[in-house]
Amino acid sequence: MVNLLSRNRTQMTRRSLFQWLAYTFHGAAGLIVGAPLVRFFLGKRPERKSAATFQRIAPLSVTSTDQPVRITVSADRTDAFTHYPPGPIGVVWLVRNQDLGGAGQVRCFQSVCPHLGCAIDFASERGVFFCPCHASEFAPDGSQNFGPSPRGMDELPCRLSEPDDNGERWVEVTYQEFRTGTKEPIPTV
Ligand code: FES
Repeated sequence: MVNLLSRNRTQMTRRSLFQWLAYTFHGAAGLIVGAPLVRFFLGKRPERKSAATFQRIAPLSVTSTDQPVRITVSADRTDAFTHYPPGPIGVVWLVRNQDLGGAGQVRCFQSVCPHLGCAIDFASERGVFFCPCHASEFAPDGSQNFGPSPRGMDELPCRLSEPDDNGERWVEVTYQEFRTGTKEPIPTV
């Protein structure tokens, strides 16, 4: 009788141990599988680090008073799982004025057309920006000459850095994209 009780107690203890191990295993597995999903749904969506900060996009020496220059903007991105190395996030136009003594000597314009989002180009022979999709035209200061675009080109905050060790000044821009089709520019990132 004593042996029987003892054997039952041993079996109970083993069963409890197995149950505890099973619960622990399932709990750990749930954490491993579930944590990234929770992070995905509650965490940040993929974002561009450059959205609210000035970043260097080109040395001043690549700009020209003759005509605007087209610059590809790169930035690193982070989503719920991965940090991506720097890659292209957009294209801007830099317009340099003659006077480099003032603060507004270089202006930066988004290359995305405010109408439906085509890429704005520059016609050097006419000295104007134009959109090849529906023929919107813009002056070098970004204002609209004509066409279906609901507004002029979107201007981005832009400044010049202090000279670096090589004496080079850099154009720094806060990269931003805007909703298309609206009269007022509405930031999207
Ligand atoms: S997308 Fe530029 S004019 Fe239509």
